[in-house]
Amino acid sequence: MPAYDQYLQEILIDAVTLQNRVAELGAQISAEYGENDDLMLICILKGGVMFMVDLSRHITLPHEMDFLAVSSYGKGVRESSGNVRIDMDLGSNVTNRHVLIVEDIIDSGETLRFVMDVLKARHPASLKLCTLLNKPSRRKVDIEIDYVGFEIENKFVFGYGLDLDEKFRNLPFVGVVNLDALPK
Ligand code: IMP
Ligand code: MG
Repeated sequence: MPAYDQYLQEILIDAVTLQNRVAELGAQISAEYGENDDLMLICILKGGVMFMVDLSRHITLPHEMDFLAVSSYGKGVRESSGNVRIDMDLGSNVTNRHVLIVEDIIDSGETLRFVMDVLKARHPASLKLCTLLNKPSRRKVDIEIDYVGFEIENKFVFGYGLDLDEKFRNLPFVGVVNLDALPK
């Protein structure tokens, strides 16, 4: 029995469905940006990493990648507090460049609101947002999303970049966590 099995209630999005959707998003992004746009994908660490590298392989336009690590502090481990901070900033300047943020999931929206505000202040040529998963029922702050992989219900999920207490980001599918199996 694999180590994650006790925490898995059900597979929500299987690996094939995920990869097909990532390919579609890559094609859509490739069609909507211009060949000469100075496109930069910004991965929100750590959750966005699997999604961004797979997405990047389906983007046929030249583009760069960079990484931004943020965390929210206070509150519990499975809920954002709204107090977000930068743990590791970008290595590159985004001014006058076309920035596409790549995130794993938008829940309350607090993390992305903060990230968008920080990046907007650096004056990119454009700023768009691509998220693999969206949980609209949990939204606390208004946020406009340009590309969404899947809308999901209010369930805590893991795999494909999303962690369960920092583990199991490597799973090729998105699964629903069996909350009863977790330590209280
Ligand atoms: P927000 O600030 O509430 O939108 O929270 C976004 C962050 O919380 C995401 O980047 C994830 O790291 C984490 N998160 C929210 N929901 C889940 C989930 O269901 N599983 C794993 N992480 C989650
Ligand atoms: Mg995250």
